[in-house]
Amino acid sequence: MSDLFASSEAASFDASPFESLETELSFADVEPGEDQRWSTWPAITPSERGPEPWPAWVVTSAGALDTERGILKTGKEADVFLLERAVPGDPAQRTLLAAKRYRSAEHRSFHRSSMYTEGRSTRNTRDTRALARKSEHGREVAAAQWSFAEFEALCRMWELGAPVPYPVQVNGTEVLMEFLGDADGIAAPRLGQVRGDRAELQEYYAQVVDLMRIFAAAGFAHGDLSAYNLLVHEGRVRVIDLPQIVDVIANPQGLDLLHRDCVNICDWFTRRRVDCDPEALFADLLGTLF
Ligand SMILES: Nc1ncnc2c1ncn2[C@@H]1O[C@H](COP(=O)(O)OP(=O)(O)O)[C@@H](O)[C@H]1O
Ligand SMILES: [Mg+2]
Repeated sequence: MSDLFASSEAASFDASPFESLETELSFADVEPGEDQRWSTWPAITPSERGPEPWPAWVVTSAGALDTERGILKTGKEADVFLLERAVPGDPAQRTLLAAKRYRSAEHRSFHRSSMYTEGRSTRNTRDTRALARKSEHGREVAAAQWSFAEFEALCRMWELGAPVPYPVQVNGTEVLMEFLGDADGIAAPRLGQVRGDRAELQEYYAQVVDLMRIFAAAGFAHGDLSAYNLLVHEGRVRVIDLPQIVDVIANPQGLDLLHRDCVNICDWFTRRRVDCDPEALFADLLGTLF
């Protein structure tokens, strides 16, 4: 009995180092190229990953590479890039992501002013002092605060069932999220670029009201809602650009910002002959709020 046990242990002892050597060899064959890095997923802490369950398309393998696939849009506070995360040689583990990278450079404009951030606190006193001094570290901290704010807002809204891109992870000043677009990397059009007929636009308006209700029912306003922060993907309106999301009650400007979102949206749709009234929409959302 003890002999048998000993020999089976010996057999498995022989097999396992051979197996692991084989995997190590295939990893060692891959070297990130100039526009590549190893996937940052394995190294980030669990709280900086998107809500579970992770969608099936999320690539979690430590053998994945991130490849830069070009720029989607440069902006005042952030640039959005197309990123491919894939395991080389495994077509089943390949995904496109939107990488929103907040700028820490001095020329970055601060149109997302303190109006939005009132009441938010900074935990780390070194960071607070750096922010006040506007040092290089301070600018890095400020940019990372926006990326974390956007990531948290996306997570919260995703969990409430709002049509936001799935937030994959946040890492410093970079948010990685679901890419809304096709498999070739062509991004979904902004609502502002869509040439729909009246019936189509009426349907999009109904979808925008639905998503505003989801925000309001949780006590939030988007805070920067416009036809540029709404994408039309596969016939559905999706909302993006959430770092300035507003707590309608806690923020002293909350109601004004909610009202402004209503006016912006209704102005746009009214110009396209869709029947809507900003005051009625505002009242509707207030009803959801209280
Ligand atoms: N998840 C995404 N999928 C596809 N395109 C995106 C995504 N996120 C952003 N974009 C593109 O990048 C643009 C800018 O993104 P946005 O979050 O609005 O940043 P900004 O702060 O520069 O307005 C969008 O209008 C859209 O064209
Ligand atoms: Mg935007």
